[in-house]
Parts: sequence; structure tokens; C-alpha cells
Amino acid sequence: MTETTATASGRDDTGASQTLSVRDNRTGQEYDVPIVDGAIRAADIGKIKTEDEPGLAVYDPGFVNTASCRSAVTFIDGEAGILEYRGYPIEQLAEKSSYLEVAYLLVHGELPTKDQYDSWVHEITYHTFVHENIRTFMQGFRYDAHPMGMLLASVGALSTFYPESRSISDADNRHMQVVRLIAKMPTLGAWAFRHAQGKPYVYPDNDLGYAANFLAMLFKMSEQKFNADERLIRALEVLFILHADHEQNCSTNAVRSVGSSEVDPYSAVTAGIAALYGPLHGGANEAVLRMLRRIGSEDRVPEFIEGVKNGKERLMGFGHRVYKNYDPRAKIIKQAADDVFEVTGVNPALKIALELERIALEDEYFVTRKLSPNVDFYSGLIYEALQVPPGMFTVLFAIPRTSGWLAQWLELVQDPDQKIARPKQIYTGPRTLDFMAPSERWK
Ligand code: CMC
Repeated sequence: MTETTATASGRDDTGASQTLSVRDNRTGQEYDVPIVDGAIRAADIGKIKTEDEPGLAVYDPGFVNTASCRSAVTFIDGEAGILEYRGYPIEQLAEKSSYLEVAYLLVHGELPTKDQYDSWVHEITYHTFVHENIRTFMQGFRYDAHPMGMLLASVGALSTFYPESRSISDADNRHMQVVRLIAKMPTLGAWAFRHAQGKPYVYPDNDLGYAANFLAMLFKMSEQKFNADERLIRALEVLFILHADHEQNCSTNAVRSVGSSEVDPYSAVTAGIAALYGPLHGGANEAVLRMLRRIGSEDRVPEFIEGVKNGKERLMGFGHRVYKNYDPRAKIIKQAADDVFEVTGVNPALKIALELERIALEDEYFVTRKLSPNVDFYSGLIYEALQVPPGMFTVLFAIPRTSGWLAQWLELVQDPDQKIARPKQIYTGPRTLDFMAPSERWK
């Protein structure tokens, strides 16, 4: 019997060894692979080889069952519908905390004292302005540019304004860039919106809180001060808290993967924004609204559901890679939607959404596949009630997710286990073909 060697001990709390015994039927060899924290190391599997074949690889498109890192930022139990940031349940944070406190928690790993919180809020507020050349840069986009495209290009451009951000091993420098990114995202996001509206960009109002200032930059016109309804500000704070992190999703994985090359955090976060742009990820809430518009009325819901079951349609805002019973964020969002509709009046598309949810939750197709509403099913309805158009929805996701991306990036750059991301492939193409020069081939 050959025993694979691994750096980890493979012992549980009681000291008992936990291993996986594998028999390679090609060679008859047996291997004991250490199990640590419920996982085996892919590198240990790579030690299983024959004389002619290289070490075994694990084929896992989409990382369905591959842990890419060890992380202490966010915990999810998909079966039980549990989401915790740094150990705190999302329900409690959404009810009692503020977005900037949650951002501090994610980034620093623990809740702030009063002094720490005040100085964090001061730092973030102080850095909300961007260099005037960024403004000129943004003004160069076409009149109908998608705000997410503008956001991702502008965040990428920020790296050229802060070349020192490349010193990622300097803790003070890292902190500075984290503050800048969290502070400037609402400014860039609001300006992308104003651009599409043909309205003048509004500078930050540092007397206002994070969400209130964002609403002011979106909607202020000639008034001296823009004061949004407190209930709307709170609803936006709650949405920001719910979207702040979600462990190793597509965009966070993009941030970590790109960040593993030791590039500056602006470039790494830009990769996250690009990933979030896609309709299967952050773009889903925009797709939900378009879907609801297309359905048009409640009586057409059954026909649409049939289309989904026949594979002609996808029920956007439903299903999740991790949550297989319910998404805890969707429950909180439904409450936030009620609060917003109290101020703005009910969004007419809500009736269609409720009917879709009612029928889908009873239908065998959705029940057997464990498909239920995710965070994006209702968030778009709230944004629309806030007068935010669908093209901006993903921007409203990217702004709060920045604190999560940065918490994950900080963890990555300080993790001695991390290496540059470089997955394996299973090559399926031809080999050793003879190349003929074009002059020969095209005779
Ligand atoms: N509508 C219809 N069928 C679905 C849906 C859906 N929304 N989601 C999954 N299915 C079906 C899928 O066709 C498959 O069926 P079958 O077994 O017959 O082939 C089965 O359910 C399993 O789906 P999957 O595609 O293997 O699941 P996944 O974990 O790869 O995909 C997902 C997760 C979120 C990409 C997917 O559920 C989806 O496309 N949902 C709609 C888009 C959406 O709402 N995205 C937002 C996710 S939450 C916010 C975020 O994290 O960005």
C-alpha cells in the first residue's frame, strides 16, 4: 500500500486520523488520502498515477465541488438556508446594522468599537470624490453606454490614478485602496446613471450617509440639498447589506483568480464587476424585470411557466447553485419591498412576480429541482420602485459587493496557501499535426 503524503495532518479534533482509501484498479495500488476539514487535496489525487499516465486530475467545470480557498469571511449552509458574515446571521445584520458597519466587519473580521466605526465612516466619506480626469473619462462614453460597462471601465481606470496600489504586500497601502474603492463606487455608479440620463454628474454630499449620498447623487437636480425618504434610505441600506458578500460566487472567484496574479486591487475588482455583469450572476435582477415585462399580465404566467418547463425559457430570479431550499436574502428582500412600496406605491409587476412564485413553488418541475426565488427575484422590483432603471440594477449590486470582494482579496493576498490560479484542462484536440505553410496549403 502506498500512502500519499500531504502537508496537512489529516487528523480530527480527537487526534484520530481521517483518511480516504482509494484503490486504483489500473494498478491495484491503494492510497490513503488525508481528509482535512471535509476535503481532500487535489494535489494528493495527482499522486495517483500509472507508469504511462500522468497523475489523476479532478474534472470539475464550474467548480461544482472544488474548494478553491480556505476562508473565514462568509458562511453559507445552502440546505438550511443559512448565511453569515464573519459568523453573524444575515437576518440580524439586515435588521440592526448599517452597510458601512457590515463593510467594516467583512474587511476587518470583527465588529468595530465606536471609535473604530467613526473613523472608518470618516475615512470612507472623505474619499468619495474622484479625480476630475475620471469624470472626463466617463463623459467620453456614448450617450447610451450600459452603466455596468462604464463602471467596470472606470474602476479599471482608477488603477492608473493610484499606481502605488500595486504594492500589495504593504498593509497600510492595502487599507488605503480598500477605503478608496468602497468610497468611490457609489460616485462612479451614480455618474454612470446620470450619463445615460444626459444629466449633470452630481458630486458627493459628505454630510449624508453612504446610501443617502448615493440616492442624492442619482436624483439631485437644482435643489440645495437632496434628502431622500428615510424609509427608502433604510431599504437601500438593507439591500446593500444583503449583497455585501456571498463567499466563492462567480465574481468573487474572478477577483481571487485575477488577484492571485498579484495585480492591484482595482484591476482585481474590475474582474469581479465584469463577472457580475453576466445575466446568470448579478445581471439576473435586470433579466427578471425584462422577463416580467415580457409576460405582461398575470393570466399569461401559466403559459410562461410551460415555456420554462419545455426548456424554451428560464425563470430568472429562481434557483441557486448553493441554496437548495430557500435563499435567506429573498425573505428579507420581500419585507424590504413592502416597506418601499409603502412609500412609492406598489410596483404593478409585483402581481406577476407573486403569481410566478405561487405557481412555480407548487409545480413539480421546480419542486423536484429545488428551485425557489433567489435574492434577485424581488430586488429589481424594489429598484424600479426607487425609479432606478433596469440597466442600473447590477450597478446597485456591485457597489455593496465591493466590500465583500475586498475582504476576500485581503484574505487571498495574506494566505500563505495561495498560489497563482492556474486550473488544469483535459485536452481534447488533435496532436502532432504537420504544419504546411499557407503557400503550400493554398496551392
Ligand atoms: N429556470 C428554469 N430551470 C432552472 C432554473 C431556472 N431559473 N435554474 C435551474 N434550472 C434547472 C436546470 O435547467 C436544471 O434542470 P435539468 O436537471 O433538467 O437539466 C436544474 O434546474 C439544475 O440547474 P443547474 O443549471 O444545473 O444549476 P446551477 O447551480 O448550475 O445554476 C443558476 C444556478 C443560478 C445559474 C441557475 O439556477 C439559473 O440560471 N437561475 C436563473 C438566473 C438567476 O436568477 N441568477 C441569480 C443567482 S442569485 C444572485 C447571484 O448570485 O448572482
